Amino acid sequence: MALDISAVRAAVPALAAGTARFDAPGGTQTPRPVIDAIAEALGAPLANRGTTTEGERRAETLVAEARSALADLLGTVPRGTVFGRSSTQLAYELSRTLAKTWAPGDEIVVSRLDHDSNIRPWAQAAEARGATVRWAEFDPETGELSPQSVAAVLSPRTRLVAFTAASNLIGTRPDVAAVARLAHEAGAHVHVDAVHSASHAFTDLDALGADTLVCSPYKFLGPHLGVLASRPELLEGLHPDKLLPSTDAVPERFELGTLPYELLAGARAAVDFLAGLAPGPATGTRRERLARAFAAVEEHEDGLRTRIETALTALPGVTVYSRAARRTPTLLFTMAHRGPAEISRALADRGIDAPAGSFYAVEAARVLGLGTEGGVRLGLAPYNNDEDVDRLVAALAELVA
Ligand SMILES: Cc1ncc(COP(=O)(O)O)c(C=O)c1O
Repeated sequence: MALDISAVRAAVPALAAGTARFDAPGGTQTPRPVIDAIAEALGAPLANRGTTTEGERRAETLVAEARSALADLLGTVPRGTVFGRSSTQLAYELSRTLAKTWAPGDEIVVSRLDHDSNIRPWAQAAEARGATVRWAEFDPETGELSPQSVAAVLSPRTRLVAFTAASNLIGTRPDVAAVARLAHEAGAHVHVDAVHSASHAFTDLDALGADTLVCSPYKFLGPHLGVLASRPELLEGLHPDKLLPSTDAVPERFELGTLPYELLAGARAAVDFLAGLAPGPATGTRRERLARAFAAVEEHEDGLRTRIETALTALPGVTVYSRAARRTPTLLFTMAHRGPAEISRALADRGIDAPAGSFYAVEAARVLGLGTEGGVRLGLAPYNNDEDVDRLVAALAELVA
């Protein structure tokens, strides 16, 4: 069954501006229930977490509801759900915590396909401990990061393998479970960047085989924060630096300072909004509804992606870099006689948002031969419709002509 796209669009006030948006991989527009949840959190008594006053109890409730929602989204339990400012901040914090036990001679593996947020924190932590960084290479012709390319750089000294569940630059979705299996056989911790994939695919920590993963609700209709998912038993064994009086309980031990309660309210509302996209009657648990919703989202987005892809490949002088067998609806392209920034500007002049660059996937852009200029990225969200695609296709044909 299909998504009700007009209902989705009607719920997102920013779309009233009339722009055809293909900038979702950078951050989505926000539905009204998410905006309302943030406002409501701030509009009623709110204090630091506790049990004595109404404000304290409300803060407790907002945290508990957000943990439960994000655990449902990611396939873990509330005690395995950590909130932070961003996925980058969470990766940095985790890298410093894990690196406490790394020593010279130890190795870590990062991938060239990744956003720098899942490379530099690990590489810098390794450097600080005298550990060696090894690189898993992807194939620029196919866009694939194969399990073999990761296996090639594993060793008995590998302490960590960090890689992406989906490339934010070209959409590649590697076989995460297969890579995780190999990494675990080598005795390594598996950290997965699910920031891009979590917007497009149903996420299951266990099925992915990840020890830890991160995602960012502002990429899937929520507010700007980061979430780390893991298993409570694993988190119990990790000891981040923390303030003396702050609790050592899991998951709070990983959350520095006061949580952004209003953003947690928004993140909870975003998960509920996503669950509400499940076609048909609202039956089953929230996680079951999320599974049905993501199936419908994938079908809708893949349909639009195919239309864009068909149009792009028919245009003379256009190169599309998104070629992997399993992909998100994220297409990176260049044109022979116009730079990416110029194309992006020309599209913006026609009311179409399609940003240009390498989007912090600097290693991947270099491997693809795109340097710092990168390409033009076309990304989709559940609110994109056929009319957006019609406008894009017409504008691209005009630019080529
Ligand atoms: C794949 C991927 N990883 C990590 C990040 C960084 O996320 P955050 O902004 O939450 O630090 C992004 C942001 O664009 C991303 O697309």
